[in-house]
Amino acid sequence: MTKYLPLLLLFGVFACQQPKEEMKTKITQDPHSFAKPNEAIVKHLSWDAVVDFENKQIQATATFDIETSEGAKELILDTKALSIESVTADGEPAEYSLGEYVEHLGKPLVIKISSETKKVAVTYTSSPEAEALQWLSPQQTDGKELPFLFTQSQAILARSWIPLQDSPGIRFTYDAKVKVPQGMLALMSAENPTEMNDEGVYTFKMEQPIPAYLMALSAGDLKFQSLGARSGVYAEPGVLESAAFEFEDTEAMIEAAEKLYGPYAWDRYDLLVLPPSFPFGGMENPRLTFATPTILAGDKSLVALVAHELAHSWSGNLVTNATWDDFWLNEGFTVYFENRIMESLYGREYSEMLAQLSLQDLRIEVDEMLAGEHPEDTKLKLDLKGRNPDDGVSSIAYDKGYEFLRLLEETVGREAFDVFLKEYFTKNAFKTMTTEAFVEYMKTNLLDKNGVEVSSEFYNEWIYGQGLPDNAPVPSSNKFAIVEDVLAKWKTGESIDQLIVKDNDWNTHQWLHFLRNLPETMTVEQMTTLDDYLGFTASGNSEITHDWLRHVVKNSYEPGYDKLESFLVNVGRRKFLTPLYQDMMDAGKTDMAMEIYTKARPNYHFVSVNSVDKIVGWE
Ligand code: BES
Ligand code: ZN
Repeated sequence: MTKYLPLLLLFGVFACQQPKEEMKTKITQDPHSFAKPNEAIVKHLSWDAVVDFENKQIQATATFDIETSEGAKELILDTKALSIESVTADGEPAEYSLGEYVEHLGKPLVIKISSETKKVAVTYTSSPEAEALQWLSPQQTDGKELPFLFTQSQAILARSWIPLQDSPGIRFTYDAKVKVPQGMLALMSAENPTEMNDEGVYTFKMEQPIPAYLMALSAGDLKFQSLGARSGVYAEPGVLESAAFEFEDTEAMIEAAEKLYGPYAWDRYDLLVLPPSFPFGGMENPRLTFATPTILAGDKSLVALVAHELAHSWSGNLVTNATWDDFWLNEGFTVYFENRIMESLYGREYSEMLAQLSLQDLRIEVDEMLAGEHPEDTKLKLDLKGRNPDDGVSSIAYDKGYEFLRLLEETVGREAFDVFLKEYFTKNAFKTMTTEAFVEYMKTNLLDKNGVEVSSEFYNEWIYGQGLPDNAPVPSSNKFAIVEDVLAKWKTGESIDQLIVKDNDWNTHQWLHFLRNLPETMTVEQMTTLDDYLGFTASGNSEITHDWLRHVVKNSYEPGYDKLESFLVNVGRRKFLTPLYQDMMDAGKTDMAMEIYTKARPNYHFVSVNSVDKIVGWE
């Protein structure tokens, strides 16, 4: 049957005789969007907006160029908590209605059109509680003088600030005009200004088609510093210099990435360093990665995150997961690509340390997930229908995805795998990919092409099976072997000052490996000796701090409590929050968790609040 698939598809194209080139391929229904793109699809957005900090609202008109199929009657957009003021179709008032609210998804905005309709305009206001938006008070910024705004649209939060066909399978270009208060710079996932102007009115253009989850906006007291010919960094003035130092290797990363998998498709690559409440490490908004300031370690030790977000310029932004069930196609490929960029710049030993840290975390998470409520979430291909797509964000997409791709690399050889990946990104650029289509593509263009004979069980086990298969590749690193040796001796009772010299040359990743392999339970004496000699509580590296604080909580190490509180109150990066709150709950420190969370919660973005609420049982 499957060998006739291309013929069938071809027949389908001619049989339905749709007028427009783009309408030929039917878009599969995304369970997380109300849009019916096969009837009417958005091709371009013109966004005219005023950012109102006082009322924590965005007032805007979104004008869409649409394409319709024969007999089209409705354009359906996704919305969440938007107040719709008016809707026009080709300049005339249009009939519209907001449908029933569906959990996680919001409400469909159903607009009456005809197959002749070319332009639809929606005038609306976002809610002060819009889930994508975080409005920061001056106190939450570095400068402490002006407020700050940023968006986080992935996975399905774009609809809380723009009515859109909010599905990763639907791409459109956009232009925008945004008014912000005086003294602020506005930035988007688009061609950006580099300087403030007196009016506070900025214009933007994104000429490459992108899915809605890559819509992004930020406004605040921001300055720009160039990093190279086509890269630069934006940050608050007090952060700019350290950010420019930390990201010095960005241009080299772009070059390494291009050498691996083909030309960078988005012209410029800039970074925006946000205040610490940003809920993620990074977000791959096209042309402008949003990043947490917690990677500014002062020694470039955490720049793998830049490699990661840059890699998304190919995996994710160029070739995009069709639905959130295919999320591993975005993240697994990106972790693989990230690792290859890191290897190019800093060598194999370095990238193997990163891979080993990830594998260790993956094993722990797989075991927890298999014993939990949704063991099926350990499959690469997810089934998130009726659930929040955020539930699919785990190490599975990232690190099981990475392991699978590394296994493919090792199976066919690196040279053949690189040829395959480069072609994959080129041939599928600006398109979407389902897991099933990837499997077909891989069979033809990787396995058959290279004469590799494997049974379908080989890849099906990875993609459609639970847990981590036995043939998962195991990275290795000599630098970690040294750490393991020290740990083994320390565990037999040798004292730490006999095993390591103070201020030794271990890098951050060795310290993380050390911290992650300390015993779960330690005595206060052991904690004190380690801390006095190695200075963990005083560390300025956020990853080290996080790993150390887990021991602080588990072992009731009181000298670390102030740091625990200040870290949790200042930093809103979800990856750091959830383990620490979970550890407090598991250790029976409910009062401590509640006390800290009560102070910290107002500082967190919706996505972090949503996760931590569940952990601590916040009402
Ligand atoms: N695209 C993700 C962030 C994301 C995923 C937001 C799912 C919303 C839903 C981003 O590229 C990412 O993976 N960030 C990681 C970086 C890390 C793996 C280097 C993060 O934030 O920790
Ligand atoms: Zn990512």
